[in-house]
Amino acid sequence: MTDQAPAPFTGKSRVLSGVQPTGDLHLGNYLGALVKFARLQHEMETFIFVADLHALTEWTDPKKLKSNVREITAAYLATGLDPKVATIFAQSAVPEHAELAWIFNCVARLGWLDRMTQFKDKAGKHKERSSVGLYTYPVLQAADILVYKATHVPVGEDQRQHLELTRDIAQKFNHDFEAPGFFPLPEALTQGPGARIMSLRDGAVKMSKSDPSDNSRINLTDDADAISQKIRKAKTDAELLPEKLDDLAGRPEAQNLVGVYAALAGRTAQDVLTEFAGQGFGKLKPQLADLAVSVMGPIGGEMRRLLADPVEIDKILGAGAERAREVAAPTLAEVKRIVGYWAG
Ligand code: TRP
Repeated sequence: MTDQAPAPFTGKSRVLSGVQPTGDLHLGNYLGALVKFARLQHEMETFIFVADLHALTEWTDPKKLKSNVREITAAYLATGLDPKVATIFAQSAVPEHAELAWIFNCVARLGWLDRMTQFKDKAGKHKERSSVGLYTYPVLQAADILVYKATHVPVGEDQRQHLELTRDIAQKFNHDFEAPGFFPLPEALTQGPGARIMSLRDGAVKMSKSDPSDNSRINLTDDADAISQKIRKAKTDAELLPEKLDDLAGRPEAQNLVGVYAALAGRTAQDVLTEFAGQGFGKLKPQLADLAVSVMGPIGGEMRRLLADPVEIDKILGAGAERAREVAAPTLAEVKRIVGYWAG
């Protein structure tokens, strides 16, 4: 049986994704992740969670953790996730994630984790002072995904490697425990117009919450004034906009603003260029500012409204956790039996 190729997974398609509750979501998170979640919930069964276990891998103030979880949840809701359609929950409310992660820690190989570039980036020069949790972070991520037997995982390009690791873990588990096809081999969904939103101050680096300049990003909670000011101040070059997309090569800031415009308007970048060809940023920026305010402004407003009533948010998270456990618990029970636990 061991030599048999795992049977293809024949279960149903299921989307799962999560965001770490580190506060300060921005336009990059919105276009790269949140918009996709809201769209996918109507295409497949969808599970979206807040990764508060992952937050502990780096020091997080206990006083802030819970409010950060509520803030991400508010962002999910404000950007269109519907708790009647998608299952929305906090990772810490579903203990099956951590239990499965232990088993996966024993499936994943040190050599696999040694190759993870996100760990290298986050640990920097002080690897020996990083938490062990930061090192096994991608193993917990694999458990997040596979405890629901998710088949599709919308994430940023930077998470592709973690998805490959998830597939390796699924495959090795299925093989080693002679359970062909038990776990699906999930697919990363990284495509989309908002896949890579860059800093407004430097087109060569990604928009990030850790950038010291607040002008480098549009936060989901920024008001209309802040949004238009940041776009007005965005770094550009002195040239006019070309007709063809290829002619934007070597102009990262111009490329980014055209890309942001296109993603916010739901149009292609080429389409936007066709409209602005031969014009400068004096023309594009005010229109981009209006567009950004009209899309992002209401999201910030809705988040503030939701956050004023944490009881409602907690109710949604409570109901979501119950539904999530209905799927996660049977998977974990089966895994315990497969690995031969006494309690399995
Ligand atoms: N690592 C992801 C990120 O930084 C967050 C995350 C944790 C996640 N668990 C996940 C994303 C499971 C998708 C699926 O963006």
